[in-house]
Amino acid sequence: MSIIRTVDLTKKFDEFVANDHINLSVEPQEIKCIVGENGAGKSTLMNMLYGTLIPTSGSILIDEQPVKFKSPIDAMNHGIGMVHQHFKLVPSLTVYENILLGTEITKKGLPLIDSGEEIRRVQGIIDEYHFQLKPTDRVEDLSVGQCQQVEILKMLYRNVRILILDEPSAVLTPQEVDRLIENLKDLRKNGKTIIVITHKLREVMELSDSVTVIRQGKVIGTVMTKDTNEQELAQMMVGRDVVLTVSNEGGMPSSDEVAYRVEDLHTINAHGAEVVSGVSFEVKKGEVFGIAGVEGNGQSELVKLLTGLMTTTKGRVYLEGRDITNLWPDQLRKAGIGIIPEDRYGQGLCQSMSIPDNCIAGYWYDKEVCQYGVLKKKSILQRAREYIQKYDIRVASEQGYVSELSGGNAQKIIIAREFESHPRLIIACQPTRGVDVGSIEFIHKQLLRFRNEGYSVLLISSELSEIMSLSDRVAVMYKGKIIGEVDPKTISTSEIGLLMAGATSQRNEVPV
Ligand SMILES: Nc1ncnc2c1ncn2[C@@H]1O[C@H](COP(=O)(O)OP(=O)(O)OP(=O)(O)O)[C@@H](O)[C@H]1O
Ligand SMILES: [Mg+2]
Repeated sequence: MSIIRTVDLTKKFDEFVANDHINLSVEPQEIKCIVGENGAGKSTLMNMLYGTLIPTSGSILIDEQPVKFKSPIDAMNHGIGMVHQHFKLVPSLTVYENILLGTEITKKGLPLIDSGEEIRRVQGIIDEYHFQLKPTDRVEDLSVGQCQQVEILKMLYRNVRILILDEPSAVLTPQEVDRLIENLKDLRKNGKTIIVITHKLREVMELSDSVTVIRQGKVIGTVMTKDTNEQELAQMMVGRDVVLTVSNEGGMPSSDEVAYRVEDLHTINAHGAEVVSGVSFEVKKGEVFGIAGVEGNGQSELVKLLTGLMTTTKGRVYLEGRDITNLWPDQLRKAGIGIIPEDRYGQGLCQSMSIPDNCIAGYWYDKEVCQYGVLKKKSILQRAREYIQKYDIRVASEQGYVSELSGGNAQKIIIAREFESHPRLIIACQPTRGVDVGSIEFIHKQLLRFRNEGYSVLLISSELSEIMSLSDRVAVMYKGKIIGEVDPKTISTSEIGLLMAGATSQRNEVPV
């Protein structure tokens, strides 16, 4: 008997069919992965199971009984919980306060919160599932991986039997992903059923019991994980063979000419701590220069410095000899720098604006789309159409809002805009986060084509395989400093892993 089953479940947004007669069945205590291209309809399906979207037609059965969810509260009452990709925690509160939010325990007969009891209960579930958290930790001090643990605990506290996670590993470091996989396997052991949406096929193979593939709103097939492999899944997802690791061989050798120079950069964060302390490097013409490191070692701040979102306390930055230190983002773009930011919704896009307007955001100085302060609507729409076609961006309507796009398609708008604006250097930060395998191949090829044309790429990614396969040289950042430079062709993953953890006596390390 299935614990959860959908029969011909369909969701339309106006005329656009996002889910088309979906028949999905999940067995008790299994880990089910849902995979599919960007815009395939995975999040839409899960949002119907969790009551955030109401189906257009079809039915949902829990324990073979039909249910109708009007809101997540209904879903929760049936034991279904969901962890979204964007966390919904209150940073200034502690772990236990976040978990108990809305279900506070009061002292008998008094309108007073019984913190002692709350802490005890939260400690109880932390122990039961072997999470590494303290109930009294403040959420603002936690890493992304720990915030996710709090979200999961919130659901466990509410006694869910079925836990849905939408791309839980997209924002995690490799170490945090391993921990998450362990946590989820523990949950299965304790009787929970888990549904995970992911683009990472390695995780699918490691984690799941069965996989359902969705393409263009339809179920393409369900396979047992033990009977399949990454290549076959990629093929099912995209409908063609996919190159899972694009090789950077065969490009033009990079020249000795320096395109971009960063000299002794320093900055402090809001608490006055020096988070970037003396970073120097050069990116040559026709080169991909990668920066690896465990998240939280100053990479985000370095990117903010280099993209005009933070200012330096010391140090200089040059593009082809021109001093561009502390310029604003629009001045940097004008100077010839393309920016793919880490946080696509926070810095790369405006969700409440249309797709065409986002396609020119940051480039209003381009006379083809704006002249004498007047936007040329026709040209802008024309440009959006070009991008949509060339970059295979799946949209329900060309003039729709970015908020209606799936996560990966939203990312492709940024990729298209930044590449098509003919920069000379692209700062690519987590460029394939949340992007499907077919599109990762496409974006990687674009980055290498750009390099092969003699331009430069500064690549910052927590995805080690991405850094290693694309970069010509890799620097490792640790505690705000670059502690070594390695040749990605000769260093092993475990060696670079050690370096990322701060071990400096590496064989291949070249002091910088
Ligand atoms: N509120 C909405 N209004 C209009 N169209 C929508 C809305 N929400 C989703 N869509 C469309 O439905 C399709 C499926 O979106 P969904 O978010 O389910 O994709 P997904 O499989 O989760 O993709 P990704 O891997 O990129 O997250 C997309 O083409 C999207 O543009
Ligand atoms: Mg999605």
